[in-house]
Amino acid sequence: MKIYILQGDITEIKADAIVNAANSSLLGGGGVDGAIHRKGGKAILEACVVIRNRQGGCETGEAVVTTAGHLPAKFVIHTVGPVWNGGNKGEERLLENCYVNSLKLAVENQVKTISFPNISTGIYGYPKDKAAAVVFKVLTQLPEEIKEQLDVVNLVCFDQENLLIYKAAECSFLNKKH
Ligand code: APR
Repeated sequence: MKIYILQGDITEIKADAIVNAANSSLLGGGGVDGAIHRKGGKAILEACVVIRNRQGGCETGEAVVTTAGHLPAKFVIHTVGPVWNGGNKGEERLLENCYVNSLKLAVENQVKTISFPNISTGIYGYPKDKAAAVVFKVLTQLPEEIKEQLDVVNLVCFDQENLLIYKAAECSFLNKKH
């Protein structure tokens, strides 16, 4: 499993699965959620409504999978990140769950390449450096059976700030490994 840190618009990067930083309603929103629905088209929202009617939306930390519509992907995996509330309300565990549950869903759907945005670090206010540490913690602690089934994990940073944070986090994570 290779990890790439990229800067750009996640809706423009080809992958088997694109992860959406959704909200619990699954009815779309701003940020990356807005971009995915806008560019992916109404098929994504229609699929989200089917899930919503079946299970009433998506809990924080959970993930659901839909078509990717017109996006350069087979699937969109919608996950709901935690809203940052100071760090003592279980936010770290919930953010970890977003990445783990999205990766589990990816493997269940024979996904080989998956792209993540920097979940919760926009409207939900999760400190970017803390969020990056969570991402690398999850990726280093992934069970082998998941790592073996994934070829590429793209960490897509929209802004320069996150890009620099992820590059720095990757270095410290690599240094720890040796
Ligand atoms: N491609 C990649 N990353 C993007 C894009 C894009 N097109 N647009 C925004 N981002 C980045 C933001 O810069 C931020 O770093 O995605 C990260 C997550 O930001 P948000 O999209 O605001 O998501 P989040 O902080 O998880 O808040 C979720 O926002 O859009 C609503 O419906 C969504 O209520 C939910 C909330």
